[in-house]
Amino acid sequence: MPSLIPDDPSVLLTTAGMQQFKPYFLGKADPIKDFGSKNTASIQKSFRTSDIDLVGDESHLTFFEMLGNFSFGGYFKKEAIEYGYEFIVKELGLEIHYVTVFGGDREVGADEESVKIWQSLGVKDIRKGSREDNFWGPTGSEGPCGPTTEIYVRGVEVWNLVFNEYYCHPGGKLEKLRTPGVDTGMGLERLVMVVQNMPTIFETDLFKPIFNFLDQRLSKPRPEWSKRIIADHIRGIVFLIVDGVRPSNKDQGYILRRLMRRAMPHLLEFQLWDPVVVGEKNDHAFKMRGLELVADCVIREYSKIKDYKYLSDRREEILKVIREENDSFDRVYENGSKVLEKIINKAVSDGTFVISGKDIFDLVTSHGFSIEWIKDKARKIHGLKLELDVFDEEFKKHQEVSRAGLEKKFGGHGLILNTGELKAGDEAELKKVTRLHTATHLLQWALREVLGKEVKQAGSDITPERTRFDFTFPRKLTPEETKKVEELVNQKIMENLPVSFKEMPRLEAEKTGALYFFKEKYPDKVKVYYIGKSLESAVSKEFCGGPHVDHTSKIGEFKIDPRAPRPLCFFSLRLL
Ligand code: SER
Repeated sequence: MPSLIPDDPSVLLTTAGMQQFKPYFLGKADPIKDFGSKNTASIQKSFRTSDIDLVGDESHLTFFEMLGNFSFGGYFKKEAIEYGYEFIVKELGLEIHYVTVFGGDREVGADEESVKIWQSLGVKDIRKGSREDNFWGPTGSEGPCGPTTEIYVRGVEVWNLVFNEYYCHPGGKLEKLRTPGVDTGMGLERLVMVVQNMPTIFETDLFKPIFNFLDQRLSKPRPEWSKRIIADHIRGIVFLIVDGVRPSNKDQGYILRRLMRRAMPHLLEFQLWDPVVVGEKNDHAFKMRGLELVADCVIREYSKIKDYKYLSDRREEILKVIREENDSFDRVYENGSKVLEKIINKAVSDGTFVISGKDIFDLVTSHGFSIEWIKDKARKIHGLKLELDVFDEEFKKHQEVSRAGLEKKFGGHGLILNTGELKAGDEAELKKVTRLHTATHLLQWALREVLGKEVKQAGSDITPERTRFDFTFPRKLTPEETKKVEELVNQKIMENLPVSFKEMPRLEAEKTGALYFFKEKYPDKVKVYYIGKSLESAVSKEFCGGPHVDHTSKIGEFKIDPRAPRPLCFFSLRLL
């Protein structure tokens, strides 16, 4: 089963079953060759942080399993809706409460075709939804997307049928796909909830073993919402770890750390904290507590399913990651929780009932607390308000400063990639700087287009967040010029031009018109990277060691920061 860490560098985690099928929707991979058919179906581990604040209610989760059927130019609306109807009504014997379809907006018309198909099946309650509710995708900065129709059973949305009719370019421009496709997604947990006729997903047999375990082991009863958070997060933690994520302060690692540091205090309050010696033989025995014990329960239960047997094979490794994070959190927890208690008491005694953004910021950055735990504790347990907008602002500033500090400290040395202009600390960062590196080549080309060939590169500096391009030019750029440069770069990104290189003798390379630094000493053989179909017709040619993306569309949306004294270019990565 494909990993929770996608190949697609524009997203941190796999959020939907369709993600791995993007190339098939775009005609870049051949489904007949790979699946023997234009149609296929899957079950996919998925993870979404978008619902993290809702976890604790009846039906929201971070980690879930998604069932889906897909067609890449095979069947379309009629069959997809008929299959959906047949499965829910005939196979499962459930009643469709109502369905929703896309009601249309200025850009895309209402989906009357789906309305007619539902009517022909005898479904009466058909509701029209907005762009926000009934239009899906893309994942990341670009990709296939289209109107959706959703099936509700007992008021619960169980199945989302997406008709991928468009390609969304970075920046939001929609283009009709040559071959429309179907992407459907049905959360297994919600489906089980309606099939087993349970009021919440947590009472289904998917969660029962974890709840039974918690109920047996807890020394004091806790509210349901708290147990639900533990049960949801522990599944996410186990599956993120087994797919290779490790707790850290960035990207996927930061998501994992937040989950762990939210679940740990919940368990502490539960007092599931006494060490337990586990293992059959003494030499294998080790002490487990809190989160590890619940993780072990998840591993035991899921390993009963053949496809998840790898969890038990890697049990010790998973538990070790949890134990180490537990230990490091222990070192800060006691002190931090005293500080938090004090802040809470003060908010109550001074009658404001508000926790300031600065206090939240300190708890997160100095005491290593998960923002979600602070919300749980202050808001849900004590009924206080939090100044979250102030916190968000402080936190963003802090991240920028620590990034700058890191760059200064390393100065580009000791990191896995350092060509003088690129700095990346790990695979995920490497993917980002690679995208920005190609963007930098396009930027140089666009600047020369707009300002003239006198533009000369003086240097550049690329980190995972942004690229900086230094160049000589006698005056500041006007806002119109900046805008034009930005547009040109985005235009080339949208054209999805191939990026390639040719290795050749230096003297020959110089004759190709490729850009290079006059003062730099190059070896006798150099690589010329070019953007375009051939070296002759390329828009950009530069002496360069790489690495680059293979096609410009992988760059994402390109933006020039208007506040920068010289062009400082960011592209936006859409987070989950
Ligand atoms: N991609 C759609 C979703 O995630 C349907 O699979 O809801």
